[in-house]
Amino acid sequence: MTEILPEETKRFVRAALPEPDETLKAMEERGQGFPTVGREVGQFLRFLASVTNAERIFEFGSGFGYSAYWFAEALPDDGEIVLTEYDASELREARAFLETAGFADRAVFENGDAMDAIERHDGPFDVVLIDHNKDGYPEALEAVRDKVASGGVIVADNAMVSGIQEFDLILDALEGNDPEMDEDSRGIAEYLVAMREDEEFETSVVPLGEGIAVSCRR
Ligand SMILES: C[S@@+](CC[C@H](N)C(=O)[O-])C[C@H]1O[C@@H](n2cnc3c(N)ncnc32)[C@H](O)[C@@H]1O
Repeated sequence: MTEILPEETKRFVRAALPEPDETLKAMEERGQGFPTVGREVGQFLRFLASVTNAERIFEFGSGFGYSAYWFAEALPDDGEIVLTEYDASELREARAFLETAGFADRAVFENGDAMDAIERHDGPFDVVLIDHNKDGYPEALEAVRDKVASGGVIVADNAMVSGIQEFDLILDALEGNDPEMDEDSRGIAEYLVAMREDEEFETSVVPLGEGIAVSCRR
């Protein structure tokens, strides 16, 4: 994971957070080398679900369920989180982790393309996490935008880096230039520009983890 925060700042942020539960710690062990959102973003996702009183959440790209677990903790018993994942074995792991804490009843597991899954689920969603293939962010936004509740939020992970994106080129694009870049970087840049120009949403980029863009529907 490519961190935005300097090591000492990250230590500070982490030290100010409560300890995650045993399942999350086990998931962090499992997640070594896997691109989860990381603890600081995970806790921020749970915070967002709490402050929006979230009842329904949708994730584009769930992996083995790390971000979904943080969300699920903040949902009411009759709440719902939709996990989407190409990889069936990762999704099975997600189910097992959520089951250990009794959260599996709050989860819908969609194996396959997140872009197909979103078509099967009507809104409104209180929180949406976009964390799948980076070149697909603009398309995901288009598919989910009108399904976000008023006061709801869309979070895009890897808004600044992911190891494959080119930070300087994305910055250049945000500053109004048109640099040559790969599809992943272009996907992120186009997403950030679309959100900046969308008057129905208020967006802030938060430099936790690999950077998240948080957009609240007015
Ligand atoms: C960055 S990881 C997700 C991490 C997860 N949100 C977490 O924090 O633990 C991205 C995942 O999205 C999956 N993925 C990528 N594109 C996808 C798509 N179009 N539909 C479904 N899954 C996708 C990948 O297989 C990968 O497991």
